[in-house]
Amino acid sequence: MLVKTLEWVDNKLRLIDQTQLPERLVYLDLDDYLELAAAIKRLSVRGAPAIGVSAAYGVVLGVQGLAQADRATFDRTADTVIKTLAATRPTAVNLFWALKRMEQIVKTHEKLTPGELLPKLLAEARAIEQDDRETCGRIGTHGAVLVKSGAAILTHCNAGGLATTQYGTALAVIYQAQKEGKQVRVYADETRPLLQGARLTAWELTQAGIPVTVICDNMAAFLMQQKKIDLVIVGADRIAANGDTANKIGTYSVAVAARHHNVPFYVAAPVSTFDLNIPDGSAIPIEERAAEEIAISNGKRMVPAAAAVYNPAFDVTPAGLITAIITDQGLIERPSRETVAQKVKPA
Ligand code: MRU
Repeated sequence: MLVKTLEWVDNKLRLIDQTQLPERLVYLDLDDYLELAAAIKRLSVRGAPAIGVSAAYGVVLGVQGLAQADRATFDRTADTVIKTLAATRPTAVNLFWALKRMEQIVKTHEKLTPGELLPKLLAEARAIEQDDRETCGRIGTHGAVLVKSGAAILTHCNAGGLATTQYGTALAVIYQAQKEGKQVRVYADETRPLLQGARLTAWELTQAGIPVTVICDNMAAFLMQQKKIDLVIVGADRIAANGDTANKIGTYSVAVAARHHNVPFYVAAPVSTFDLNIPDGSAIPIEERAAEEIAISNGKRMVPAAAAVYNPAFDVTPAGLITAIITDQGLIERPSRETVAQKVKPA
């Protein structure tokens, strides 16, 4: 990715407003954590790792005006900020993982004054950002061995640079394969209802010079039947201890179709996306979003006002349908409780 998804500049968080892509490349400069919470909710910044990194900076936004305050006021405010950011989106575990790291800094430095604690919080947010960049790089390297030159890869939603701080997870594999001189082509599911595949994945791949063809979500199985897809790579929002994986709604259907057509189905995610407290996918909280996202498109009503609309934002792909999970620590082949436990250790 040539452009920066997010950046800490002059005590503000600068984000690409992803709701405006691909028409306009617009940046938001946020200096208020409530504005960030609203930006996360409306998907100006989205994708599990990017939400986590932004929220870490959001904690800094929420307390940076309190350098002269007493410690009790600072702690109370930090708690409110963390709770507010945690309430923005329920599925991506990276949000809670990053907020926990920030909370830990507050708790372990109980003797410091707010003025002394603030630089430590900013340093932790920067470390979370840097970790994400390196993690994505490693996912790319581990995953690229699975990609042969000439491969046609299907992806769903956007698990690219826009969903992280730089390379992405699923798309990191594709960027790395390209870097290694392999010819790759991507089919991007448009990803209804908010079109992260059509708007965002297609945008960033065209920027990177990788050939991309956008298809409607309901075309993927047909392309597999036509032998147009060699492998599928998607991202993840939360992975249970047994390997069941929550990702953007529609991922499960792609996995079912891939199994039927004998197409390898890979999930690419950092180990911070595993939630070992969740035994299997049935316990992963699934965000339900506003009916209008489906009922109204481009300001035009597409569904009769009297009809009900159901809008779950994620689904869960059972581990049994996943060929391997590509993590920053290496591959987890045939994910199961046992193979996940070998690679992912409790925090
Ligand atoms: O609702 P979104 O756009 O935040 O959903 C994003 C996804 O489902 C991604 O595939 C996932 O977060 C992985 S991003 C590396």
